[in-house]
Amino acid sequence: MIQFDGVGYRYGRGPEILRGVSLSVPRGSFHFVVGPSGAGKSSLLKLMYLAHRPTSGTVTLFGRDVSRVSRAEMARMRRRIGVVFQDFRLIEHLSAVDNVALPLRIAGAKEGQIRDHVRELLRWVGLGDQLDALPSTLSGGEQQRVSIARAVINRPDLLVADEPTGNVDDEIGWRLMRLFEELNRLGTTVIVATHNETMIRRLDYPVLRLEAGSVTAAGHQARRPA
Ligand SMILES: Nc1ncnc2c1ncn2[C@@H]1O[C@H](COP(=O)(O)OP(=O)(O)O)[C@@H](O)[C@H]1O
Ligand SMILES: [Mg+2]
Repeated sequence: MIQFDGVGYRYGRGPEILRGVSLSVPRGSFHFVVGPSGAGKSSLLKLMYLAHRPTSGTVTLFGRDVSRVSRAEMARMRRRIGVVFQDFRLIEHLSAVDNVALPLRIAGAKEGQIRDHVRELLRWVGLGDQLDALPSTLSGGEQQRVSIARAVINRPDLLVADEPTGNVDDEIGWRLMRLFEELNRLGTTVIVATHNETMIRRLDYPVLRLEAGSVTAAGHQARRPA
């Protein structure tokens, strides 16, 4: 599903913030991305969800070298990816329901099917009372949940989530992880960057550990020596 071979990335003329990153994420797997703040987690995820192309090395996604695909193909690939941005990126003039419905409308779903599906998902993430609220009237944690619902609503082939439980309490955090696991069971490949060590240890999915721009470990956290 995702393959990195000797990937480097720099912003503009700045220093290389990812160096020689090689990794492989099989279709249908669930991975955590961990590492200290500034290690390059968000940048790595941006390469995975096609916000950036690598400045060196090769990123292969859905079997395609992302540096060689056309703009049209890139757009088609992006529609197969659900993204939970660290800063949410909700559309300010659209209600919670309409933000979450957006990917379905873009995909051409029928309005009759959209309404119920979106409401049910928003209730599941605990926002049943805020269906028509504008993002600016919601707390950070609530906005985060709207952005998660939007990312998963059309069952993407790949879900990339950047610290998706950073702004919610534990109970909601676990509920959101169950949502990701459910999606994963249905076939979505899931990548979650997180600081939550308890979650990483308890769920025991393989971990990609980033330190200072390089992947220093890949494997199960629980099996690493203490
Ligand atoms: N848009 C940007 N322009 C320039 N430098 C950036 C930009 N975004 C991130 N960086 C730098 O890249 C490095 C890695 O950042 P980031 O990928 O956000 O790490 P993390 O998500 O692990 O905290 C940091 O040194 C950060 O300052
Ligand atoms: Mg980050």
